[in-house]
Formats: sequence, structure tokens, C-alpha cells
Amino acid sequence: MIAKFTNYQELSAFGADKIIQLVQQKPDAVLCLAGGDTPALTYDRVVAKAQEAGVDFSGVIFIGLDEWVGIQPSTPGGCYYFLQQKIFGPLHIQKDKIYFFDAMANDLKADCNRIDLAIEQQGGLDLALVGIGMNGHIGFNEPGVDAALNAHVVELDEVTTAVGQKYFASGAALAKGITLGMAQIMSAREVVLVASGPKKAAIIREAIQGRITNTIPASLLMAHPRVSILLDAAAATELD
Ligand code: PGA
Repeated sequence: MIAKFTNYQELSAFGADKIIQLVQQKPDAVLCLAGGDTPALTYDRVVAKAQEAGVDFSGVIFIGLDEWVGIQPSTPGGCYYFLQQKIFGPLHIQKDKIYFFDAMANDLKADCNRIDLAIEQQGGLDLALVGIGMNGHIGFNEPGVDAALNAHVVELDEVTTAVGQKYFASGAALAKGITLGMAQIMSAREVVLVASGPKKAAIIREAIQGRITNTIPASLLMAHPRVSILLDAAAATELD
């Protein structure tokens, strides 16, 4: 389903409710939550609602979606750091419930295998909440990605390295990423894509109303049996 919201606040409240409801129904749910600006308010709402309603997140498993290769978990702007600040810290998630890429690992391929195995052992993802890149990427599944891949290391698209600077206070050396593959995201029992603001309007149109193609990785989600595309009014302006 495609849901249009008046504004970013309403979109975020809806996204948060989805996560809260899932955890209420399934306290040991396996969640894959994206970093990025768009889901930030959704996460704040999740934390607030969890506290208000006394929702127990202690059994939830978190799987990282992606990370910038070479960025430490303690570096502001990194994906782990962001989720630590927004979700893991505030909800007091224990380390053994979090499976996140080690983007500092010497053997990144082995780290991909570790995450692939963790997903399998946890019984697959119940919900993946993702943003959309300006080039249509999902996680670091960049245009042209092999949609059959599981976790992998990728040479980042130049749009991604340029846009990615916004997360870091001073120039970060961004060249590669480590990411769950489209195969894993497509296997999630539910996918939620969030997009906000006028700068996402054109790529949202391509992803939703264009052809399903790996040159726009987000378009692949249109073939998912249970996907919700949450848009604020500004991101939906180019839709027919
Ligand atoms: P953003 O990132 O939410 O910061 O726009 C989206 C993405 O690149 O996935």
C-alpha cells in the first residue's frame, strides 16, 4: 500500500505505530531499521510510545541494514551510532540482541557471512524499515545491484558518497559500504519505506510508477507482497 500523509510528523507517527504494534504482537520480533534522516522522528516516536505504553523491547532482535566501510561505531554520522542514539540506548537494548555490521573488520566478507547467518538463525526479518536514496538505493543496494545478493560490500555510487556527507560534521572518506542485500530485504515479512520532502518526489515517482528494475533498487520493493510506502505530501507531489 501507498499511504500519503499531510506532513512528516504524521508519517512518523504511523511508522512508529507499526513498529510498536508488531512488538506488542511479537515481543521477539526481528527488526531491521535503517539509519538516515527520514526515519529519525519515527524512532523518537517509537521510544516515546514504548515508554508511555510500557512496551517491552527486551526480546526484540535488531539487525543492521548497512554501514559506511571504515566508520567506527563511535563516529557520529555512522549508521550504528545513529541507531545507538535513537533506539538502542533509549530502549536499553542489550548488546546480544543487536547484529550490526563491523565496518572496521579486516575481513568484510566474513562479516557479511556473520550477518547472513544471524538473519537465518533468527528466522528471517519480521520487518525492514528503509529509506530511499536520491538515486533510488535501499540500504547500500545501489543502482544496478544484483537483486539476488545477500549481505555484501559495495563500491558506493557517487550520488551516495556526495549526499552521505550530510551525516558527518567534517568531511568523511566515504567510498565503500556494507549492506544487507535486496534478497534479504525482499524476504522480510513486511517492508516499510519512508520518504519525506520535495527532494524525494522525483525518485519516488520513478520507484513507484516506473518499471521494476535493478537500476532503481527501490522499485524492486513494488513486487514485495507486504510493502507499505509512507510518503509525506511533499514526497508525493509527482505521483499521478
Ligand atoms: P535520508 O537517507 O533518510 O537521510 O534521506 C535515505 C537513504 O539514503 O536511504
